[in-house]
Amino acid sequence: MKKTLILNGSPHKNGSTSTLIKLFTEHLQGEYKIINAYDANISPCNDCRYCQKHGKCCKKDAMEEVYSYTAECDNILIASPVYFSELTPPLLAVGSRFQAFYCARRFLGSEPAGKTKSGGILLSGGGDGGCSLAEKSAKILLKTMGAAGDFPLIYCGNTDNADAGKNGGAVKGVKMLAERFSP
Ligand SMILES: Cc1cc2nc3c(=O)[nH]c(=O)nc-3n(C[C@H](O)[C@H](O)[C@H](O)COP(=O)(O)O)c2cc1C
Repeated sequence: MKKTLILNGSPHKNGSTSTLIKLFTEHLQGEYKIINAYDANISPCNDCRYCQKHGKCCKKDAMEEVYSYTAECDNILIASPVYFSELTPPLLAVGSRFQAFYCARRFLGSEPAGKTKSGGILLSGGGDGGCSLAEKSAKILLKTMGAAGDFPLIYCGNTDNADAGKNGGAVKGVKMLAERFSP
């Protein structure tokens, strides 16, 4: 059974991102775990450099569970609203903790991510200004987490004026990604 990790960067339980994540999980087969960056109690990396020598993070918090699930999962979805063109700050804070993976590879030659994963990106924005900066960051994060290949982007724009659940392109996109991530 495939396992999917979903990192959710939205503070809203019923917002655009959560609506599309719900639809995604309804069409996804296998097991999944959602990490809500806003209430996960995960502090940002402070570049203490412990991981450069030990290949893992010295902080003891909810990130330990995220590391374990990342190592065992098959798929990763990075889902976030766009804030000032970027992923949201709490999601970037969670992402910063994957510096431990980067350092394990760079300084110790080890592979902390286990098997190679598939990845996908789901972004929502209130306007129509696009999401290329957030997409770029999400791609860097996915690669650091051990994903490879092409990373399909689902972008749900204009959420100030239209319900995400009625955005035909986004709805189709999450269904297609769920199929791709399923066994
Ligand atoms: C601090 C902040 C910055 C934002 N910056 C952008 C932006 O750069 N581009 C954009 O399209 N929307 C921007 N928005 C709007 C949100 O991306 C939009 O409301 C989003 O759909 C909310 O998603 P959610 O309902 O899943 O939380 C911003 C909102 C906030 C609160």
